[in-house]
Amino acid sequence: MLILGIESSCDDTAAAVVEGGRKVLSSVVSSQDDIHSLYGGVVPELASRRHIEMIVPVVDEALKRASVTMNDIDAIGVTQGPGLVGSLLIGLSFAKSVSYVKSIPYVGVNHLEAHPLAPFLYEEGEEVTEPDFPHLALVVSGGHTALIRFDDYTTSRVIGQTRDDAAGEAFDKVGKMLGLGFPGGKAIDIAARSGDPKAVDFKRTYLGKGNLEFSFSGIKTGVHTYLSNLGHEPSEQEKNDIAASFQEAVVDVLVRKLKWGAEAAGVSTIVAAGGVACNSRLRAKLSEMADREGLRLLLAPPKYCSDNGAMIALLAWQRLEKGERAGLDLNAIPNWDLL
Ligand code: KG4
Ligand code: ZN
Repeated sequence: MLILGIESSCDDTAAAVVEGGRKVLSSVVSSQDDIHSLYGGVVPELASRRHIEMIVPVVDEALKRASVTMNDIDAIGVTQGPGLVGSLLIGLSFAKSVSYVKSIPYVGVNHLEAHPLAPFLYEEGEEVTEPDFPHLALVVSGGHTALIRFDDYTTSRVIGQTRDDAAGEAFDKVGKMLGLGFPGGKAIDIAARSGDPKAVDFKRTYLGKGNLEFSFSGIKTGVHTYLSNLGHEPSEQEKNDIAASFQEAVVDVLVRKLKWGAEAAGVSTIVAAGGVACNSRLRAKLSEMADREGLRLLLAPPKYCSDNGAMIALLAWQRLEKGERAGLDLNAIPNWDLL
């Protein structure tokens, strides 16, 4: 079965052609960073306008790179939520139109549930990673930070999430404070490599031993206060030190909470996915923790950490296999929280 996966929940227009649910024949992502970096954050109206312009060329490119045409596609998977409503509606309307015109089924999927399936995608010639359910996934992105227990591909339950900001949001805001541009996550990762993670002791917010909720608003304020009290423009080295210290504090919390979560859920396999899972320090410290604790760690490959159509196609495949079909009345769910 060939599935076309479509993702347009935030500021990336993405499409992928996936065979048999997990083999990625093509994955195309058109980033909108050039537009939103001018404003230091995603401007919803501009995002939906760019999705309208890009959805057809991005899907065309995905079909071309997979050496197929729309006539070869058996079904479509599309992000139904959560996300920006105007952005979601572009992908959803496109999926409905193609489904109707070509008489092929489509389903809408939850973006958060799709992110942690990324480790199970593979391309021709790549090693195939098999899931061993149940497992616990840490999803860390620009909009969400959550611990999700998976009993199989489509049965999941959130056992902890953020009370305020997402980890990626904190990275982006601190990146902005340090003048590193938007989005700030990758820039902080790079700056931190030349900085001292012990330079500033930013407070780690654990909310009590064993607590599985997250809070990142305090550390954002902590960095802001530190910069205000500095009394001068930070030098390049000071910026690198602040980036490294901030990153270390966020990573320490994420790693420890995933460990606590695995204990609470009684699982021996852990997954990390979402844009922030690209972070090199997080990947290194998760590997150390997993080795120490005897856990099997599955890290989403960097190319599928950020938003993409392939993870959407994978989850859609599972739902289609179970006989699910969406009607043309399916609506976007911008605040679709997993339970
Ligand atoms: O999953 P994603 O592409 O989109 C959402 O669903 O939100 O995640 C985007 C987030 C942004 O906040 C970005 O700054 C962050 O992922 N990010 C990183 C890194 N690369 C992307 N954060 C830390 N380190 C990175 N290397
Ligand atoms: Zn995402």
